[in-house]
Amino acid sequence: MSSRKPLIAGNWKMHGTIAETEERIAQMLPRIATSEHVDHAICVPFTALQAAVDSARGSLLNVYAQNMHEGENGAFTGEISAGMLTEIDVQGVLLGHSERRSLFGETDKALKLKVPAALNAGLQVILCVGETEDERENGDTERRLRHQVQEGLEKVPAERLGELVIAYEPVWAIGTGRVATPEQAQDALAFVRALVADRDKAAAEQVRVLYGGSMKPDNAAELLALPDCDGGLIGGASLDVDQIIAIVDACTR
Ligand code: PGA
Repeated sequence: MSSRKPLIAGNWKMHGTIAETEERIAQMLPRIATSEHVDHAICVPFTALQAAVDSARGSLLNVYAQNMHEGENGAFTGEISAGMLTEIDVQGVLLGHSERRSLFGETDKALKLKVPAALNAGLQVILCVGETEDERENGDTERRLRHQVQEGLEKVPAERLGELVIAYEPVWAIGTGRVATPEQAQDALAFVRALVADRDKAAAEQVRVLYGGSMKPDNAAELLALPDCDGGLIGGASLDVDQIIAIVDACTR
């Protein structure tokens, strides 16, 4: 039995005005108040971060951004730095989500700098990795994951690797209602952990690896029970308080 604490992270994507954020958090807080066996996070839009931090202060809920620039400041129009996030007490950041990669040109090369920049600023990091449907069909899943994990972790010193969270999200399962089978998910989650072990064996025991991609109340228990699954990154279902609470309740570890 692993001692890793499960993490249930909601990725709200581009959903949530300040008013909606405050309301959803107010509904969530009493329902997670006794779920200390789970770490809780929500990744909210930039404009709702301050309101989310204020609403969640003193609770079990951590607030994450959905992206970040690797630099401290500079001529990077439209970007936000780690220091800007920590200044308003944001606790973490989601990096390399497949929508950032496929729609906005996020590269492994940039993530190689973003991951250590976030860690150095004191942010918790969820690094997202995952193969497309074509890559899976062509037998390229492991090659893709190897590239994403090795490059994303390259500049993180071995002694800090264990602090990371890596979310395995098969791109074909995100927002589609299609879910990886337990076997597909376990194979990929274990492979991601093995890639961390190639860098440092102790870190591989500590690093938390999440499953993401159409996780819902009716499939969560099976996925969360997988030996290498340390939680979930949840998109659509995280916008519905009843659904995200049902997923938290499915964490029995
Ligand atoms: P989904 O999204 O749960 O709606 O599939 C997951 C994600 O994009 O992180």
